Amino acid sequence: MYQVFARKLRPQRFEEIVGQGHVTSVIKNAIEMGRLPHAFIFSGPRGVGKTSAARILAKAINCEKGLSSTPCNACGLCEDITASRAVDVFEIDAASNTSVENIRDLIENARYAPSVARYKTFIIDEVHMLSRSAFNALLKTLEEPPEHVIFIMATTELAKVPLTVLSRCQRYDFRRISVKETMDHLASVAAGEHIDITRDALMIIALQADGSMRDAQGMLEHAAATRSGRIDAAVVEDMLGMVERATMHGLLEAIIKKDVTSVLDSVGKVYQYGHDLLQLYRSLLESFRNMVVLKAGYTGISLPEEEKDFLQGLIAEVPFEELHRMLTVLIHAEGDLKFSSLPKITLETVLLRIISAPSLVDIRQLISRMHSEQAPAPAGRPSPPAAPAVRNKPPLSSLPRSWEGFMTFLKDHDQPMYGMLATVSASDGDQGGVILTCANQFIADQIRKALPEILKKAQAFFPSEIGIQVAVQEAQPQAVRKPRPSEARANAMKSSVVKEVLAEFNGVVRDVKPIE
Ligand SMILES: Nc1ncnc2c1ncn2[C@@H]1O[C@H](COP(=O)(O)OP(=O)(O)OP(=O)(O)O)[C@@H](O)[C@H]1O
Ligand SMILES: [Mg+2]
Ligand SMILES: [Zn+2]
Repeated sequence: MYQVFARKLRPQRFEEIVGQGHVTSVIKNAIEMGRLPHAFIFSGPRGVGKTSAARILAKAINCEKGLSSTPCNACGLCEDITASRAVDVFEIDAASNTSVENIRDLIENARYAPSVARYKTFIIDEVHMLSRSAFNALLKTLEEPPEHVIFIMATTELAKVPLTVLSRCQRYDFRRISVKETMDHLASVAAGEHIDITRDALMIIALQADGSMRDAQGMLEHAAATRSGRIDAAVVEDMLGMVERATMHGLLEAIIKKDVTSVLDSVGKVYQYGHDLLQLYRSLLESFRNMVVLKAGYTGISLPEEEKDFLQGLIAEVPFEELHRMLTVLIHAEGDLKFSSLPKITLETVLLRIISAPSLVDIRQLISRMHSEQAPAPAGRPSPPAAPAVRNKPPLSSLPRSWEGFMTFLKDHDQPMYGMLATVSASDGDQGGVILTCANQFIADQIRKALPEILKKAQAFFPSEIGIQVAVQEAQPQAVRKPRPSEARANAMKSSVVKEVLAEFNGVVRDVKPIE
């Protein structure tokens, strides 16, 4: 592990702790007002400054120059605390300390006055790991704390600390350090250490560190140790076994633009370089999550401006629903990829599923254009790029006064009637009427029974009176003749694929043509 930076760069003053101003300012205040609790508890994720803050606090209350929120860091006591050798300051790592009995004895010893320091100070790291007997000793002391004792506890798992202990502590929640704060801090560290590193590279480290300054510093240190010259994005990505950001951006762009060739090329490239496809998938998930959140108008997202700008540009023309759908597919498919023995094929399949939907959006547009009685796009050629597809109910006035229009109307206003009529095929009868052909007598009877209701609805929909005849399809051998249009329609309507497409896109069947 790369630990040199962690030790060398450990903050020595509250002001040097990055991103935790909300807690350090309160702690400093308490010290200045002389209102010290007997027990502090610092909770938060790994590597965000809890132990560092605990040490600074120990110095603040024990400094030979007097109680101060800015300890001198130069007196004997301050130096001893920095070096972890102060006799009255006990640092206990509950996670790694195996001799539990000793911890209990140590805590019970609290009642004896400190020998040199102002306070007998116990810094207990990972306090949730204390044994039962140690917790009991701690509780006993916390219930009747001697004047000269202060506990500073730290934990990454607050939920595991007993409530009886928590209720006697002043609690401070440390948080993940933002990408921006991490980048800025790393940049100043790099400058101090004469490390030549690009902003892109810093950004990748900061994103990967996920809020932990210790991890971020470790990655910077590692990069500096493996590379003598300038450290750029590619160096860091290579070091972390990550897919290059440029490749990632290319892949995102290809997905958004529905460019199947580019998508498959990108996946192929990533695979060829031996990158972890699951990690690529996670990055994709994260990027899509960010795009959805940005599209929803949330700007407080923890991303560097460059990255935000890139994503904003990418999604400018894409409707929220579509991004959301893509993200949903990705989330649901994560398990597939994780447990797949053929991850490349699985990944490709998922991505193709994502990008194939937009062409369906085009169909939806096509349908709405047909509704407004315009000529459909020439067959065989893709329609122009999808404008935002809105999945609203078509306004009643825009529906053609045809049987199909009526069905669309029913679909939105009378599902049961729609469901019943969807099982029959309609064809033109005489005098502008409609013949409903049913597949069998049973259905025909049902329709006839419902006819008064149907006519009532139809009267409201059609501008003029419409006659409805109900017929039963005669059983005829189909192979010997071309099916009549009404039969072709009936057959098409039986297909589950057709049903699904109609339901998904709120559509109706205008015409059925046999495949040549
Ligand atoms: N907020 C911060 N500002 C500046 N440096 C930090 C910060 N947090 C962590 N570091 C760096 O990481 C090192 C380790 O931090 P520290 O031990 O304080 O973290 P921690 O929260 O106690 O982590 P853990 O829960 O793993 O013990 C520090 O020595 C310092 O170099
Ligand atoms: Mg710690
Ligand atoms: Zn001092």
